[in-house]
Amino acid sequence: MNVSQLQQKIMELKQEKDVCVLAHSYVAHEICEIADFTGDSYKLSVDASKVANKTIIMCGVRFMAETCKILSPDKTVYLAQPIAGCAMADQMDKEMISKVKEQYPNHTVVAYINTTAALKTICDVCVTSSSAVSIVNKIPNKDILFIPDCNLGSYVAQQCPDKNITLLDGGCPIHASVTAEEARQMKERYPEAELLVHPECVPAVSAMADYIGSTSGIINYAVNSDKKEFIIGTEISIAEHLQYLCPDKTFRLLSLKLICPDMKSTTLYDVYNCLCGKGGEKIILSDQTIADAKKCIDEMIRLGD
Ligand code: 13P
Ligand code: SF4
Repeated sequence: MNVSQLQQKIMELKQEKDVCVLAHSYVAHEICEIADFTGDSYKLSVDASKVANKTIIMCGVRFMAETCKILSPDKTVYLAQPIAGCAMADQMDKEMISKVKEQYPNHTVVAYINTTAALKTICDVCVTSSSAVSIVNKIPNKDILFIPDCNLGSYVAQQCPDKNITLLDGGCPIHASVTAEEARQMKERYPEAELLVHPECVPAVSAMADYIGSTSGIINYAVNSDKKEFIIGTEISIAEHLQYLCPDKTFRLLSLKLICPDMKSTTLYDVYNCLCGKGGEKIILSDQTIADAKKCIDEMIRLGD
């Protein structure tokens, strides 16, 4: 089967089996084309909680599938590609953060959504890159322990100067690999281009950006901008999607290092196999984990509204 035949087969199977397919914007373009919903991690978590379908296939990484399961415990949720983890989410576990919390007993623990379901059970509120600043601003407590991403956390701290934010040494190795020197060189080479970056980039790179935002934020900014040229400082898929959306504009990659192997591990065949019952992984979480982790996601949705 070629790509369009496989896409056609997937569309038929989705309808026949009443399955909703979610795709994070970092997965391959041909997967986004067959998805019912695409977008950033916040949008997908809300979309997943609203759909009527009994089965959801997440094309993204494990914490995203877990988040769907937490929000829709009665649904069957599959991660299309079982090896798709998140290098940042795997950096901190429940045991580690339980010990850290003992040092900060009066802090509100804010967890980036890129965390495991088990870790979310001991956190107070979740945030995504698109909601972090507004949610942290709404938390009554001044003292915040922000985990795991110190780069997103630094950005939030800068935007929320009234808060006392404690950060740990975690982050996305892909975004954090881009250096300020690379950003400077790209800006020098393409002086007309606007630099759009994800807040998982290091502060020295974000400081040079014309816009800092989530994956959806970057897409919306570029689509609605009058400018014609952009340097994209997040996973390379975003530049690819944008080039399809805006053929009259030019999108340049900030760095060739911005490829997330986990996000790239899902293929169209994985989606097809999952729909045929021959692949994917059914997400299983205990009722207790779902109940405890849900409190922190519900708090995100409540404060995010
Ligand atoms: P978004 O919250 O922007 O979707 O980012 C998720 C992610 O994994 C970024 O690396
Ligand atoms: Fe995780 Fe980074 Fe990949 Fe996003 S880009 S899924 S934070 S490893």
